[in-house]
Amino acid sequence: MGDSSSEDPVARVLAQFEQDTAQGTRSRSDFERLKGRFLGRDRGLVPALFANVKALPPSERAAFGARANAAKREIEEAIARLGEDLSRREQRAREASETVDVTLPGRRPRLGGLHPVTIVRRRIEQIFLRMGYSIADGPEIENDRYNFEALNFPPEHPARDSQDTFFVDRRASSPLLLRTHTSPVQIREMKKRGAPLKIIVPGRVYRNESVDATHAAVFNQVEGLAVDRGISLADLKGTVEEFFGALFGRETRARFIPTFFPFVEPGVDVAASCIFCKGRGCGKCKGSGWIELAGAGLVHPKVLAGCGIDPEEFSGFAFGLGLDRVAMLLYEFPDLRLLLDGDERFLRQFARQT
Ligand code: FA5
Repeated sequence: MGDSSSEDPVARVLAQFEQDTAQGTRSRSDFERLKGRFLGRDRGLVPALFANVKALPPSERAAFGARANAAKREIEEAIARLGEDLSRREQRAREASETVDVTLPGRRPRLGGLHPVTIVRRRIEQIFLRMGYSIADGPEIENDRYNFEALNFPPEHPARDSQDTFFVDRRASSPLLLRTHTSPVQIREMKKRGAPLKIIVPGRVYRNESVDATHAAVFNQVEGLAVDRGISLADLKGTVEEFFGALFGRETRARFIPTFFPFVEPGVDVAASCIFCKGRGCGKCKGSGWIELAGAGLVHPKVLAGCGIDPEEFSGFAFGLGLDRVAMLLYEFPDLRLLLDGDERFLRQFARQT
């Protein structure tokens, strides 16, 4: 006699189901496979049972149908239970993986910081605000008239060679260019506000430079301009000494050496006594004891007159300071290209300063 399950299709399906579920269902894909195998509409073993009915003698059909239905219900219910078990297990696994350990120390968000040029610019602004200056601003795309002509650089004058220029539009009636210094803002402010006047102008400037450790093609200057009755070189000297003292320390001295800028007369190069060796001479100041930081001078009478200010009544001094080089000195880094590289290892060192 054969095994009853091998002869009876209903028993065979139930036995198969028992065998397939003996191990339980481990994963969602196991479960879906099991469900398809038994209940799948096309090839499922349970729907296939009912296909047998027609082949049976009519007298056996009702009994077979009843047993097949019972088996179907049994299997459907078992599969539903397995499905619920699986969902519960999945839910528990999700909860375990998402659990927050509230005893762990928090992760502190990394705060951004100010760029070293911004830090230095703000310090310089504070020093001059205390001395009664106000802060002015001007466009970085400037015209030739304000960047050069009104500052007494005639067209084709060799003094223009010292500031190799990026032109934006040469065909404009006054060619447009990226300003090579902050001095054009002197012109704009004198025309707008007349005299007396005391301003500083921090801002970005552009030159077609061969870039090296102390020369960038994009750098920052702070322009200073004071116009009033009776202003002399002594006022420039006193102001620069006060400024250097406040920024670098009171022992710092200022040195003035005659030079030429077309928009000042006389013109001077301004150096600070080396803050590292206190003027004795070291590697940082190339042994000279001085570090050059600015151009300056008394505003040329032609420039004043061109701005509608009477040079017989008023005089003024102006200076243009290289901000990036001041930052290099204050923070003792060797190459001003670091200021533009965006390297976080460098910039992060300034994150806590304001
Ligand atoms: C000028 O730009 C004049 N406008 C300064 C001035 C203003 C003179 C008012 C008289 C009256 P100069 O080209 O020397 O001058 O530049 C001024 C300062 O900018 C320099 O002393 C230096 O500190 C800085 N500087 C110049 N070129 C560069 C550069 N390529 N990269 C970084 N800093 C620079």
